[in-house]
Amino acid sequence: MLSYDTLGCREKWALLQRRCAREAGTMPTKTIIEPFRIKTVEPIRQTTRAERHRLLEGAGYNLFLIPSADILIDLLTDSGTGAMSTEQWAAMMRGDESYAGSPSFERFRDAVQSIFGFGHVIPTHQGRAAERILFNVMCKKGDVVPNNTHFDTTRANCEFVGAEAVDLPIPEAREPGMVHPFKGNLDTQGLEELIARVGAKRIPLCMLTVTNNSGGGQPVSMANIRAVKEVCARHNIPLYIDACRFAENAYFIKLREPGYETKTPREIAGEMFRHADGCTMSAKKDGLANIGGFLCTNDDLLAQQQKDLLILTEGFPTYGGLAGRDLEAIAVGLNEALEEDYLNYRIVSTAYLGNHIAKQGVPIVQPPGGHAIYINARAFLPQVPPAEFPGVALAGELYVEGGIRSVEIGTLMFGEHATMDLVRLAVPRRVYTQSHIDYVIEVILEVWKRRSEIRGLALAYQAPFLRHFTAKFRRKADKPVGEAREREKQAR
Ligand SMILES: Cc1ncc(COP(=O)(O)O)c(C=O)c1O
Repeated sequence: MLSYDTLGCREKWALLQRRCAREAGTMPTKTIIEPFRIKTVEPIRQTTRAERHRLLEGAGYNLFLIPSADILIDLLTDSGTGAMSTEQWAAMMRGDESYAGSPSFERFRDAVQSIFGFGHVIPTHQGRAAERILFNVMCKKGDVVPNNTHFDTTRANCEFVGAEAVDLPIPEAREPGMVHPFKGNLDTQGLEELIARVGAKRIPLCMLTVTNNSGGGQPVSMANIRAVKEVCARHNIPLYIDACRFAENAYFIKLREPGYETKTPREIAGEMFRHADGCTMSAKKDGLANIGGFLCTNDDLLAQQQKDLLILTEGFPTYGGLAGRDLEAIAVGLNEALEEDYLNYRIVSTAYLGNHIAKQGVPIVQPPGGHAIYINARAFLPQVPPAEFPGVALAGELYVEGGIRSVEIGTLMFGEHATMDLVRLAVPRRVYTQSHIDYVIEVILEVWKRRSEIRGLALAYQAPFLRHFTAKFRRKADKPVGEAREREKQAR
């Protein structure tokens, strides 16, 4: 079969042009029609610029520390922030809250197995709980775990057990402005070299994150999944997929990879997971649920060890830290996430935001990702060096300008591992309308106009791990006083 990864450079470019033109052709020129109507509304509150200034300073320039009531448009994350459908709410009423063996678990397990196809389905309260169990059971100190790009919780959980998390994105992924249809691909040559350098025995598993969140929400091609599996199989290394945005990844394959045009997202997802030995999943993304996750494997022995650990910290294997009603919501959500009307709206509306700001010169990771737009903060604020956190500074300005909450993915989140400083605008599923997004575009363009005035920040406090959640900053020009000075001393 013709596969993207076997094409030459010029052929790839021509193919990409045709694919992008076709994608753009599905994009309405004026109005995006959301494939739903609104039954319940949730008011959002305007604040004044002076209030936002005060709130930002009070939060030490960390948007995680601002109450959501003071946010107008919340693009902090697409995780657990989506709106549920009438079918999901209806299913929740059927939730059976029995401690053991509830039919809600059976519906959840069947829904997961019908899409992902793995023998064991272990529910967890969210994605990182699945990661913690996976790494605890499979890894030990001195091990090495490759991934296209580890998400922050994946890296932290891997390092917590003493293993080394290694990112192996393709070289194109390190160029934010470069257009490539599958920029989430893992560098198979790099994987071979890593195996040759450290030895397969030190690599208990290889991971592949679809779509690659930290790398710009970029998809992984089926050809790449197949190639990674081929390398892993040759060295007897199990392949696990971080499946958070599997449906968006499947739709990108349908749009961009030759041979998949007529397949359904469900068929494509099935093929993706047939190449893997297991997966971790946060159902807060393409499970269209507000909480939940799961861990899957085909290995009976590992599954037993994972379930034992699950009982210790999450709960009995038929609920894993979730209520029966949560299991029901996920069972319905996983299927809704694979509907083509939904996926088309999802991909097109995210690209709408990215294309509109890029057209005005705002540097973004190209092409637009599935769940988010990533502004290249180093290029947006060339006067702010990475050590002064350009992403945090830019995110703060978007809040002051228009009450928009975004998140830095860069030097704050990844420290020395950061190769880019990005501001992620993650779009919650089925929540905001086109007019909300038009407003976001206007705010970004206002900040773009006054970009030369924006200054960097200095770290005043940081936690020993996952520091981005609670870190505090001060403006470069401000002198630390009192408590802030104390915190800064601790941070050093
Ligand atoms: C790629 C990826 N993996 C893992 C996780 C962790 O999932 P959770 O937040 O449910 O713990 C996330 C969450 O954003 C993610 O994007």
